[in-house]
Amino acid sequence: MKRIIVALVIVEFIMGCTAIKVSEQSNKNIDQRVDSLLSLMTLEEKIGQLVLFTSHWDVTGPVMRESDLGEIKSGKCGNVFNAHTAAYTYELQRIAVEESRLGIPMLFGYDVIHGHKTIFPISLGEAASWDLEAIEKSARVSAIEAAVSGINWTFAPMCDISVDPRWGRVSEGAGEDPFLGSRIAEARVRGFQGKDNNLADPFTILACVKHFAAYGAPVAGRDYNTVDMSERSFRGVYLPPYKAAINAGALSVMASFNELNGVPATSNKWLMTDLLRNELGFKGFVVSDYSGIAELIPHGVTDNLDEAANLAFNSGVDMDMQSGAYFKCMKDLVESGKVSSKSIDEACRRILAVKFQLGLFDNPYLYCDTINEKKYVYAPEHLDAAYDVAKRSFVLLKNDSQTLPLNKSDKLAVIGELANSKRDLLGSWKAAGDWDFITTLLDELKLFAGEKNVLYAEGCKKFGDDRSMFEEAITIAKGADKIIFAMGEDNEWTGEATSRTSIKIPGVQSELLEKLRKLNKPIVIVLMNGRPLDLSVESEMASAILETWYAGTKGAKAITDVLYGVYNPSGKLPMTFPRNVGQIPIYYYAKNTGRPKSPEEPKYRSQYIDSPNTPLFPFGFGLSYTSFKYSNLQLSGSVLKLGQSISVKVKITNSGSFDGEEVAQLYLQDIVGSVTRPIKELKGFQKLFIKVGETKEVEFMINHSLLAFHRLDMSYGTEPGSYNVFVGTNSNNVLSAKFSIE
Ligand code: NOJ
Repeated sequence: MKRIIVALVIVEFIMGCTAIKVSEQSNKNIDQRVDSLLSLMTLEEKIGQLVLFTSHWDVTGPVMRESDLGEIKSGKCGNVFNAHTAAYTYELQRIAVEESRLGIPMLFGYDVIHGHKTIFPISLGEAASWDLEAIEKSARVSAIEAAVSGINWTFAPMCDISVDPRWGRVSEGAGEDPFLGSRIAEARVRGFQGKDNNLADPFTILACVKHFAAYGAPVAGRDYNTVDMSERSFRGVYLPPYKAAINAGALSVMASFNELNGVPATSNKWLMTDLLRNELGFKGFVVSDYSGIAELIPHGVTDNLDEAANLAFNSGVDMDMQSGAYFKCMKDLVESGKVSSKSIDEACRRILAVKFQLGLFDNPYLYCDTINEKKYVYAPEHLDAAYDVAKRSFVLLKNDSQTLPLNKSDKLAVIGELANSKRDLLGSWKAAGDWDFITTLLDELKLFAGEKNVLYAEGCKKFGDDRSMFEEAITIAKGADKIIFAMGEDNEWTGEATSRTSIKIPGVQSELLEKLRKLNKPIVIVLMNGRPLDLSVESEMASAILETWYAGTKGAKAITDVLYGVYNPSGKLPMTFPRNVGQIPIYYYAKNTGRPKSPEEPKYRSQYIDSPNTPLFPFGFGLSYTSFKYSNLQLSGSVLKLGQSISVKVKITNSGSFDGEEVAQLYLQDIVGSVTRPIKELKGFQKLFIKVGETKEVEFMINHSLLAFHRLDMSYGTEPGSYNVFVGTNSNNVLSAKFSIE
């Protein structure tokens, strides 16, 4: 009886709060409501809020413990992930709200990375659009579809910089550059959480900045491997995108699996508390990665789960994803005094505050609306957006003799398993996207050009050494005007746990290409892949190469339209494409070294004896069906004073015969510093549409904050001296000028 009364009082308390919308309340008000709720909670219930278990769906790693309904009822599991659909999450939320003592609503997390149902290009592909509006739109649509399907928390954006294509998770990030990565991280947070970060809006979801930190720099590109780097590189290159996402308002952060300089991120107090909370001012909560707390045992910083929980919690990890460590050990840790009840209250407070902000105490079923789910999932405007973002993400790597765009009357031989694959188009982390719903490249080419103009032979598989279909492919190619070979990687070869020691196109695909080349017909490679590949052989054999990544639900139509020139490709590489695996790590913001390569001195220089230093395709590279001419680089002054800025203007002329979009890129170089500086750093970009024959002027502003770095004493700021400014079409093709700071 007493229990029922308590429950009623609590329900009344919680429902009483519903009169005022959370969005209209001050944080102070939320703090008071959290305080009142905390005062009613038992230790077990507080710990329950720190627990996150997976549902039985979409498990991405070893399940250590299943979240059963009893634990939700008893308040011991306050959050669930991988559960979706409005109906299913409604049922789980109903149990939490109506059958647990305090009725605290749950968070429902999910990896909504590049779409929920309507799938957009993989994140690396989106990054190649250099189109922040398009990227924000993709996250916005993903948030809407996820929100109406019961999700209130996405494990995105992934903000990990990586310069290592061997690492399969480069497909999930924004590439190698801290400036581009930061702008994209902000755009994604805006998309997920809404422009004004109003989490109580039923169409916004909580973002999670991951994987904190430096997860993209594992030794040898092997996933989950050790990370060892200087604090200067960490702060200068790897930290900025996480920081940008946090400053944009993201209220959760995921601890990464890796260690950083000897300390696993999950038990790294410097990372999770000193840096994240005290220095960056992060106010939300930190969640571990999947079983990350239990993994402190194989990491070798403890030999038991109790201590793992103790280490993680006292470092600043508020919520335990799937290890069951807080669930099993936290009560004892508090009772033995290893963990203070005050810190439990603080962690719990951070999570409850976010639940209040999400509007869950006003309406726990805000995100479980079956009517909205029907209305918004796969809404026509979402599919249009997926098409639009896809076409902007493709990068034209080669186009000899204007092989592209195709003519509608061209007789095509379409080759490759990937040309006829639905699954691959969705890439890794396809969330709840449906394969059956989509069309293949082959379907779309036939639709566009008519069945009679499009012959198909698989030719070979994506991997393996089966050559038995070569002959058929060669036969149909003989009768064609042009060959379209969809080459690349199986979508399961990218994403988590897909590191490779070779970055060549797998299997016998390139062998078939070689045979096709002997026919002396124009060959267009349509690449589908999630990492920079070694294309040194293929780029010699093909007349044209279009990098399409994994382009999503509407990807096949977008590829077709770009091949036929309905849309002129405008993407630029967000990651350097090396010539060979031996050049890795390779990135455009390298240092000069004391012995830079020089034509005058053939030996004893920083170079390879068996390969050029330069990549096959540099960062920022991407062709168009038209050509853009840069001229007239002009600076408004030659000295940059503190608090002022210099304007950099350049003229760009569309000197070809197609209207098109160009991404103008601004790079800066601090020529002499108290520490060595990169030869170039991206500090601005603008994507603009220029009609045939038209000239447009772009303007960038340079100020001190763009030039600040961690100086010799690690203080952050600028230094007097000379600077180079570069503007151009990619990191390797630029106009330049000079200015100075006195
Ligand atoms: C492990 C991955 O590292 C992380 O990115 C993901 O969010 C979680 N699993 C949950 O699926």
